[in-house]
Amino acid sequence: MSAIRIDRKNKQFFLKTKNTVYVIGLFEGKYPVHLYYGRKGKAAELTCNNRRLSFAPYSLEGDVKYYADVAAQEFSCFGGGDHRANALKLRNLTTGSDTSCYTYKSVRRFTGRVDIDGLPYAKADEKTETLELCIEDKVSGCVIHLYYTVFPECDVISRYFTLENKGKNDVSIEKCMSLCLDIPKTDMDMISFQGGYFDERVYQRNRLIHGNQSIYSRRGSSSHHFNPFFMLADPKATEEKGEAYGFNLVYSGSFLDEVEVSCDGSSRVLLGLGSDTFRYLVKSGESFTSPEAIMTYTTNGVGQVSRNMHNFVRSHILPKDKFESRPVVLNSWEAMCFDIDQDVLVDFAHEAAKCGMDMLVMDDGWFGARVNDKAGLGDWYENKAKFPDGLGAFVNRVKAEGVKFGIWIEPEMINPDSDLYRAHPDWVLATPKYEPLLSRYQLVLDMANPEVIQYLKDSFSKTFDGVGIDYFKWDMNRNLCQVYSSVLPPERQGETYFRYMKGVYELFAWFGEHFPNAMIENCSGGGGRYDLGMMNYSTQIWTSDNTFPDKRMYIQYGSSFGYPVTAMSCHVAKLEECENPRFLDYRFRLAMNGPLGYELNILKASEAAKANMKAQIEEYRKYEKLILNGDFYRLLNPYETDGKYAYYFVNEDNSEILLTFLQNFGDKKPKEYRLKVSRAIPNVTYTDKISGKSYEGAELKRGITITSDTEDQFGVMLYLTRRKYW
Ligand code: DGJ
Repeated sequence: MSAIRIDRKNKQFFLKTKNTVYVIGLFEGKYPVHLYYGRKGKAAELTCNNRRLSFAPYSLEGDVKYYADVAAQEFSCFGGGDHRANALKLRNLTTGSDTSCYTYKSVRRFTGRVDIDGLPYAKADEKTETLELCIEDKVSGCVIHLYYTVFPECDVISRYFTLENKGKNDVSIEKCMSLCLDIPKTDMDMISFQGGYFDERVYQRNRLIHGNQSIYSRRGSSSHHFNPFFMLADPKATEEKGEAYGFNLVYSGSFLDEVEVSCDGSSRVLLGLGSDTFRYLVKSGESFTSPEAIMTYTTNGVGQVSRNMHNFVRSHILPKDKFESRPVVLNSWEAMCFDIDQDVLVDFAHEAAKCGMDMLVMDDGWFGARVNDKAGLGDWYENKAKFPDGLGAFVNRVKAEGVKFGIWIEPEMINPDSDLYRAHPDWVLATPKYEPLLSRYQLVLDMANPEVIQYLKDSFSKTFDGVGIDYFKWDMNRNLCQVYSSVLPPERQGETYFRYMKGVYELFAWFGEHFPNAMIENCSGGGGRYDLGMMNYSTQIWTSDNTFPDKRMYIQYGSSFGYPVTAMSCHVAKLEECENPRFLDYRFRLAMNGPLGYELNILKASEAAKANMKAQIEEYRKYEKLILNGDFYRLLNPYETDGKYAYYFVNEDNSEILLTFLQNFGDKKPKEYRLKVSRAIPNVTYTDKISGKSYEGAELKRGITITSDTEDQFGVMLYLTRRKYW
């Protein structure tokens, strides 16, 4: 059965996912209005909200009044009588007017989706369908194609638009939002994830207030400070019960999420590029396409929103895995910093292989004049003093030890102390006549300049072709400012942030094609670009530079709401502490919340610690598939329990459950925590393969008790497998 139905007679369009329906209507056959988004089975009525109408401008359609200011709109445009936050503000550059009025032009449905040129987007599968709703402004001649792509199995619908300037006048997009959803209620909590460097995705849950609340990154990246993913939930919604919505943007640059609560009893949700760091000239005959935004809805609590997002990201966003299983890496950064020494690294590879690790990752410090963070970025060839026989010879030595090889790069950046800067000082983002602002001694390359992209392709190709790189760690260590491109005319300078991202995506796509056997791990000083745009090109993301377990637990908790653990790269780090078996075990249990890796000086590790690590990797391999592909249920919120976090992974038929309890901080007196495994099957016995203990499914459902310890850093796992009654 088709996921999309067009009812031409009643002028209603239905988008169906496994559990939800989204209904669009045409008010007086003319204005696209939002009728319903929610659980299947409820009827939608074509109503134009008629409360609080005084002061609201209207257009007369015969005897009927259309009040844009109170209508639930599919795509609200500035200047047309809707005073709420709008999805689009368009300026006619001939008249200077910001007024738009879009009305229905046509509709069609088709199987699959439209590829978005130059931007990341969700891949279609055989069930994907799209509704294309065209609206036009008869005065400016602009036509907007609103795309609704339905991913039925994941309960996800995506939105974006293409603006075609078919009029005679040039126009400028002054505000651009991809998704506009009017929800007919205001009593909801907003769950969002703010933070900073070393402290990403801090969970916060607050009641919506009357007015506009926004999450706005103007940093040129989605950033450590904000994340485009957020939820709206019934104030009573728990992990497994209650209404909740999830929203995200498939984009990695500056963004705006807005929720505006109005006096008419509705909340408008908008996601897109905003206006502060975006302006776009669309000349007569040109067109523009916005990034894709996604939404999901459930009545089964915020945990179900997460699982919808996880499924969607795994099936439609992340690239296909390059290897049969994710490599357990040994990364050099915390151990060596910039002091890359090829002989020491070969010894690292030797020890890593003995411990059962799969890959050595050589982090920063291998190229150009890179001996610290003051020089070298932009010069993507090996440092001759560090690699006298060349990079290829070194990689061969590493591989001879029996591990794969990964390498660190930071393509978007440049140090003023580099050959590249000396040759091309105009290749950086810099506003004429202003002193350029450094961050970590680096400037940002103008990725909107095609020559820069070509230079990067050529130099990476020259250095890496034939070298057998299995993995790139693509880093990005500063935010953008003085964003001005020397290759764009004044009237297009407002496009620089967006064109920068398109250049970045072009280079990512090139890496994928040019090095088809290598996976990419994304990083931006840890999790500064932890978003769906980056996940479209990278198999996993370095979650945070913060590897201290006390903070890391919260970062992993926050990251789990919008993103699958498959993408959440986790390392066991800090050797000194890892020499204590309790602390090493705790770090491992915490790191088994995603693809596992290590980041410590393995040459200094004791034989006992190395033996423990070897055993850990063997244990991880047993559960790896379940961790990376299973359904994820959060059970304890560390913010409410003084650092206790519990969760479980379960496979499709509920026959395998991996339950983890972690405590950062001991309780003064041991406390009991009840953990309910709702997916356990009642009349089935499960055996914990770790302790050998058996549990009835019904008992697991009611909840098992785990008792905390009085000391810090303690973790317990249960690996429950099902034994049927015969
Ligand atoms: C920041 C990253 O997050 C670290 O893991 C490391 O790669 C450094 N950059 C290297 O400069």
